[in-house]
Amino acid sequence: MSAKKTNRKTERQAPEPPEFALPGFAAGESLSEFECAGLAAKFISEQTSLRPEIALVLGSGLGAFADEFSSATKIPYAEIPYFPRSTAVGHAGTLVVGKVGRIPVCGMQGRVHLYEGYSVKDVAFPIRVFARMGVKAVILTNAAGGIKREFVQGKLVVIKDHINLQSANPLSGPNDERFGPRFPDMSSAYDRRFREMAVGEGNRIGIGMYEGVYAALPGPSYETPAEIRYLRTIGADLVGMSTVPEVIAARHSGIRVLGISCVTNAAAGMLDQPLDHKEVLETAERVKGQFIGLLKALLPRIAEVIS
Ligand code: HPA
Repeated sequence: MSAKKTNRKTERQAPEPPEFALPGFAAGESLSEFECAGLAAKFISEQTSLRPEIALVLGSGLGAFADEFSSATKIPYAEIPYFPRSTAVGHAGTLVVGKVGRIPVCGMQGRVHLYEGYSVKDVAFPIRVFARMGVKAVILTNAAGGIKREFVQGKLVVIKDHINLQSANPLSGPNDERFGPRFPDMSSAYDRRFREMAVGEGNRIGIGMYEGVYAALPGPSYETPAEIRYLRTIGADLVGMSTVPEVIAARHSGIRVLGISCVTNAAAGMLDQPLDHKEVLETAERVKGQFIGLLKALLPRIAEVIS
């Protein structure tokens, strides 16, 4: 197996149907999730001398940020042991380890989702790998529908809390204390200091920043207008199909979390028009420059706080 260095063309094969569990578990073999994640982490660290303490999960349309990393090593997910492969449009499926300025970072160009048929443990597996790599902070980005009325298309919203409606939790099953405790606290899952920095840096560079509560649904169908009214009633400001399993796994291992949503559309029923994935991708593309500007401004601040 060989990882591709920068400038070497990465050939992506047509996505194969996902495997539905980490291979070690599915076959009933003796490898635990902890060991699988350790092998993946070892593989990644053998491809580069960089040892990032900050990881980014770049959602719909945002993967391009990782193409700007310097001293980059690009590793297709398919080459990383036990790593799930991305099948969603707008998710390249490459892990890029490189630098932003002087800061070593690890960027996932795309993630996997429950709606692709993956298990919640598969969805959270990259975070397990980051934990084994010694990552201390993760920035999770996503596209979301805006439920709160000010959260119009194109706004960037810092996630302050979430509501898990995916009927799944990556910590289900026997707990491995090597990752973290059986019952991790989620009362401040989204790091307060990171949130303040994100809002502050966003405002400083002229992006009006907001904070909101993200509700995660399994998808892939968008919500009905009645579901959106329900979500608003229970306190959700944003709706999406990702991020929450990753946040839970990160907090389990003590990794500090920043979550930022790009509002790509008004949630179902708020405008008199149907939802369309094309609109989601187009908005993410339009806001990409601002989003990347924010991440660049934030990384040195986060690096300072975790060091
Ligand atoms: N609903 C769920 N997921 C989404 C949406 C939405 O409206 N927009 C982008 N991801």
